[in-house]
Amino acid sequence: MTWDTVDLEWSGDIATVTVDRPEALNALNVETIEAMGEAIAEARTEEARVLVVRGAGDDAFIAGADIKYMKDLSTPEGQAWGELGHSVANALERFPAPTIAVVDGYAFGGGCEMAMACDIRVGSESALIGNTEIDLGIIPGWGGTQRLPRLVGEETAKRMIYLGQRLDAETAREEGLLGEVVPDDEIDDRVAELAAELAEKPAFALQAAKDAIAQGYSDIGGLDYEKRTFGGLFGTPDQREGMDAFVENREPDFE
Ligand code: HXC
Repeated sequence: MTWDTVDLEWSGDIATVTVDRPEALNALNVETIEAMGEAIAEARTEEARVLVVRGAGDDAFIAGADIKYMKDLSTPEGQAWGELGHSVANALERFPAPTIAVVDGYAFGGGCEMAMACDIRVGSESALIGNTEIDLGIIPGWGGTQRLPRLVGEETAKRMIYLGQRLDAETAREEGLLGEVVPDDEIDDRVAELAAELAEKPAFALQAAKDAIAQGYSDIGGLDYEKRTFGGLFGTPDQREGMDAFVENREPDFE
């Protein structure tokens, strides 16, 4: 299968899903996130030993959900949009083999959330990452309210989400949001090396380890609560103001 804004490539048993929407810094619109879901499903069917997720180019992993698409959504549409992203994040989290996010450049909002749904996050020195949704009058809606606190702890996650912090790579590594940071021109080699090492490990034991770790975090209630709360913010004055301000390239003025 091929898609306009997503590629699925193979190097032996290692599958790489690349989000390729350079005009929007790889921001995810409906077409792109659906394609991403299909590419992940195909990699699963073809029994990838490792799944790598990346953005095309050096500027962005994924600059978030597409704000221009989201800005006029109604509450039910916002709800459906949240559920679509959740389904793809869950497909990453439950992928039966190890997953690696290549955070080379911007990873904001939904981009940060897709990275957090992967097992391992490798960042480049120039990466910027964070759950920045608050400045758009919404909350993380693709699992960030649940996955960020697990990675960085509750208070730090609250600071990051309440303030919409955009973290540089080194700070993100210190806080536990990135597992490692490498020079920009070394990230592809480092990810290839890590993926090759993982692909040599015993696949069933890896899957068992992943499943066992996931059991400790099987907090479906929190993810469902997030989905409902996220949808309910669409149509509020602050959501409209936050997203209009982005599109009009100005600071938001919240009520
Ligand atoms: C739509 C986006 C976008 C996004 C960038 N673009 N991010 N379009 N949705 N998330 C577009 C810009 O509008 C612009 O289009 C082009 O990409 C290049 O972006 P610039 O802003 O000109 O580049 P730069 O000055 O380098 O700034 C890059 C940036 C900034 C810092 C990443 O674009 C930015 O702050 N983007 C928004 C990041 C964000 O808030 N993400 C979270 C979204 S909410 P034009 O046409 O003008 O050239 C979210 C919610 C997920 O993800 C939860 C559930 C849905």
